[in-house]
Amino acid sequence: MLKRLIIVSNRLPIVISQEQGQWNIEPGAGGLVTALEPLMSRNHGVWIGWPGCGPDAPIDELVARFAAERGYGLKIVPLSDDEVEKYYRGFSNEALWPLCHDLLGNCIFSLENYCSYKDVNRKFAEVTAEASTPDDIVWVHDYQLILCGRYLRQMQATRTLAFFLHIPFPTPDLFRRLPWKRALIEGLLSYDMIGFQTLRDHRNFVHCAATLIKGVEVRSHHRNHTILRYDNRLIKAGHYPISIDFENFVQHAGKNEVAEAAWYLHEHYEHRQLILGIDRLDYTKGIPERFLAFERALEKYPALHQKVSLLQVVVPSRTMVPDYVDLKTQLEQMAGRINGRFAQHGWVPLHYHYRSLDPTQLLAHYRTAEIALVTPLRDGMNLVAKEYCACSVDNKGVLILSKFAGAADQLGKHALLVNPYDLEQTADAIFYAFTMPPEERRRRMALLRAQIKRNDVHRWMETFISALSTIPRETQPGA
Ligand code: UDP
Ligand code: G6P
Repeated sequence: MLKRLIIVSNRLPIVISQEQGQWNIEPGAGGLVTALEPLMSRNHGVWIGWPGCGPDAPIDELVARFAAERGYGLKIVPLSDDEVEKYYRGFSNEALWPLCHDLLGNCIFSLENYCSYKDVNRKFAEVTAEASTPDDIVWVHDYQLILCGRYLRQMQATRTLAFFLHIPFPTPDLFRRLPWKRALIEGLLSYDMIGFQTLRDHRNFVHCAATLIKGVEVRSHHRNHTILRYDNRLIKAGHYPISIDFENFVQHAGKNEVAEAAWYLHEHYEHRQLILGIDRLDYTKGIPERFLAFERALEKYPALHQKVSLLQVVVPSRTMVPDYVDLKTQLEQMAGRINGRFAQHGWVPLHYHYRSLDPTQLLAHYRTAEIALVTPLRDGMNLVAKEYCACSVDNKGVLILSKFAGAADQLGKHALLVNPYDLEQTADAIFYAFTMPPEERRRRMALLRAQIKRNDVHRWMETFISALSTIPRETQPGA
């Protein structure tokens, strides 16, 4: 019998909103929720996190009712405005996020924010210790909560402790710049098992741990994991690339309502190929570079004029971080400039939409676009790339993918791989995709889809959980 699972993540898998004084709750979207929910309800797990609203929002009853319906527990960690400002906006998103995405220039290192990060991680650990027993597996997610395991250990809360980092892990040379580098590596070493997205992230971490922390011993290397010894404990660090619920996407993308929405959408772009970009508004996603590459393609290949349109959907995100606000202004100006330069009667080359899409619209966009431009400067995985392929049910789509997305490790062979900083190469890939014969499109997309189908999010979760059950015997969970 599998142990009970306690998931700890910054956000709970719910979306709380308020409309005309009425509080509403909806399930959060995303593969992680889909993959974990069946297991969570089977073994009556508990999900611990921040509900994303102010600490005074009267949502306890709403959340309890929702949890009862789903068959697992939800435990709220309320955050004050000051904590949201310093722990979430400050340290998580102005220090760790850019650092792990190799963007040192966007980093702000503030001691005050780091102290708040520590306090909030301790708070998460306290709620977790109270909501769990020594027989449970505690699985902590992502960069916002790296230190949670360390506090659980300090509280002598002996549980099996696992961690998964959804974003990249940088090289030691970059990580060294962080003033609190040792505390964070030691925080990670507090877990019994640490999962990364790619071999590169896994290696970078092992390298950082071995070079920055005295007493870390690399015991053995295996195909997808390494055994480390530190503080009289063995720790397993491995790479387990996350994925999507492939069948669920295929099933929904095949529905009539999606087919109709896809048809209407493409009506606006009649006799044209639609190039799609869908990203949170984030400077890691390489959207300005993508616009420049598209501009370069229009400059270099006049055959594209009137024949392609780039539809860029940008989903609002982290609007309290100044760098995100500046990026929004930059994108609006760039879109205006490029259209001003190339638009002709009846043809707008670049459509820029700042909003989120409902599920039907999202799938319709994926299904109908002939080309997807997924060109982050660095990304842990990039699920949009996988979702696009899953929804390309007619096998007619071409995926242009950044080499620096984690997804490139699995999809690189059959996508058109580009360096997003290389505008010339990306422009050429756009033209190559535009002219790609139907047979080559079908062959590449079928292979991409088969890869994602085999390695879906359910397999990811099973692999992670079973890797956890084989942590070396000398490891004493929670000891
Ligand atoms: N997405 C969404 N609403 C939208 C557009 C996209 O919820 O309007 C989802 C998309 O389906 C995907 C996620 O946002 O699952 C983005 O994940 P990804 O790994 O590509 O990037 P992240 O935003 O996590 O950096
Ligand atoms: C990335 C991170 C997640 C985060 C998500 C949305 O996927 O890896 O941890 O939840 O972005 O960002 P937000 O700051 O809105 O939670």
